Amino acid sequence: MAFPQTRMRRLRSSASLRGLVRETELRAGQLVLPLFVTDGDPTHPGGDGSPPTREPIATLPGVERLSISALLDEAHAVAALGIAGVMLFGIPAAKDAEGSGAWDEEGVIQTAVRALKHALPELLVLTDACLCEYTDHGHCGVLREGTGSLAPADSPTVDNDATLELLARVAVSHARAGADLVAPSDMMDGRVGAIRAELDAEGFADTPILAYSAKFASAFYGPFRDAAGSAPARGDRRGYQMDPANGREAVREALLDVQEGADMVMVKPALAYGDLIRAVKRATRLPVAAYNVSGEYAMVKAAAAAGYLDERATVLEILTSLRRAGADTIISYHSKDAAQWLAE
Ligand code: PBG
Repeated sequence: MAFPQTRMRRLRSSASLRGLVRETELRAGQLVLPLFVTDGDPTHPGGDGSPPTREPIATLPGVERLSISALLDEAHAVAALGIAGVMLFGIPAAKDAEGSGAWDEEGVIQTAVRALKHALPELLVLTDACLCEYTDHGHCGVLREGTGSLAPADSPTVDNDATLELLARVAVSHARAGADLVAPSDMMDGRVGAIRAELDAEGFADTPILAYSAKFASAFYGPFRDAAGSAPARGDRRGYQMDPANGREAVREALLDVQEGADMVMVKPALAYGDLIRAVKRATRLPVAAYNVSGEYAMVKAAAAAGYLDERATVLEILTSLRRAGADTIISYHSKDAAQWLAE
């Protein structure tokens, strides 16, 4: 039956009717807040019991680099809002060619995870298992001499297989510190299997892996690289991250990660990739996380500051749309604001 028997507007006539037929729910318990943590060395007070410090990030208004004691303050606020967890990114005091700070038992993330799990055992701690914040060249793995067929001509070659062992070390060090989920974001082939094997061998068979399965070489990571100081010194990440034009390939990546033992899969960025959130969910039947990345956040903040958009309405619409696309979990810099608005 069509018009005039059918009138779609009948069920839109009051808030209660709209609520009765709403298809998608957004809850604080589905949200994860990414946080940047600075090393507790003398140039970054806080990790050693000194006063908390917070450094603003120019390209991410409202987001700060936190010392470990400031991180604990922030985590209490996050937990009080009912947000599921935090995703940690470390800013180490020193970097080297291999990114060895990434698996240092006394490294910034390992120290932060122990402090968080001690203070707030219920708040989930997710860690990013990657090398790019710890390598002096800014790539997500170790470099091989010369340019190979696997990289664009202007970019150094990241050695896939040599990187796997290092990533597994990183993941084990995070699990040992108490991370609830480890999330490899490097896009090397075979890393989920390598990490699963090493976690199991080291006694962490119960630590789940959230695989950044479909991570695209995206312009939307700009502010993050500014925040974490992880922009590649030379070349770009197109030799390992995915081409934004490819959807079937994203599904293939996710299915391979399932075979290798991923417990959850991620699509990143989120906003321009709703079709892939849906496709990956359908194909894998695993819980899917969508990463609403730094550039997506920065666009909304800039437009809101200029008075072009209503921030609250825009953020809630965006996060709801990611849930509608099929995301079970959303990782977003808007998480605190959103949780606050959802509670009002
Ligand atoms: C890599 C990593 C990146 C992001 C999360 N993990 C940056 C990159 O791949 O260059 C981006 C997140 C964001 O933009 O918010 N460790």
